[in-house]
Amino acid sequence: MHPPSYDAPIGVFDSGIGGLSVLRALQGLLPQEDFVYLADSGFAPYGERGDDHVVARTLHVAETLRSRHRIKALVVACNTATAAAIHLLRAAHPDLHLVGVEPAVKPALAVTRTGGIAVLGTRGTVTSAKFRALMAPLQHQARFSVQPCDGLATAIEDELRQPGSAESNAINTIALCRRYTSAAGTFGTQEGEIDTLVLGCTHYVFAAPTLRELVGPQVRLIDTGEPVARQTQRLLAQHGLLKPDTGAAGRLELVSTGDLGLLQAATGRWLGIGASVGATATAA
Ligand code: DGL
Repeated sequence: MHPPSYDAPIGVFDSGIGGLSVLRALQGLLPQEDFVYLADSGFAPYGERGDDHVVARTLHVAETLRSRHRIKALVVACNTATAAAIHLLRAAHPDLHLVGVEPAVKPALAVTRTGGIAVLGTRGTVTSAKFRALMAPLQHQARFSVQPCDGLATAIEDELRQPGSAESNAINTIALCRRYTSAAGTFGTQEGEIDTLVLGCTHYVFAAPTLRELVGPQVRLIDTGEPVARQTQRLLAQHGLLKPDTGAAGRLELVSTGDLGLLQAATGRWLGIGASVGATATAA
């Protein structure tokens, strides 16, 4: 592949709409950059499908973003895909600037006071070798309660799929959040309680208001959007690939392998941008 140019877009990808939580942080930090966001909705969810599926999809998506969109860097805005495939992606594309996401357990350790930390993630993420390796040296520094949250990412997507009010569509999300937070333990700031909740799946950021209600106002919710955005900025700067800030807002292209309307609805609801306002949409 040709070496990328600074005015090429940054690729961001997830199994669906969860990675929009990372895109939001990226656009906040790098407003001048152009982005191509690819939702692999036709092949989602990743969390309960097994490594072979996730690896094959991740490699395919990276190839598509490189060959069709000529991206200068790729942000894998999906914990499950990062856990299963980032090492293979690096091997297949040694010249591609890559950033992945992983559950923010180290930042959680830095802020917990009670020493109780809950981690919510997909089954794929929390049972992965990469997650085990991340946790191994930290295991004795706090009391970790790790919950695989089957169905939660899908429930969050379904909220936008169904017609009706936001409240009634969120019923399944609320039930699953309640189930997984109660399974994690007792939340609060007293001794023995869990005072820090790691959102180890990019979708869960969009369930943060529900989770907040369930765990109480004093518990810290930690996601990875901002650190990932800063890392992307550092990486691009290091390689002279940051687009100069002329004050003009960058473009956003939305691409989906499934329901493009759903991606547009999510972008409108969570990023406040419609396809007609600075974003174009294409089916993959
Ligand atoms: N958003 C993804 C993550 O961060 C995965 C959701 C799914 O497809 O299961 O892990």
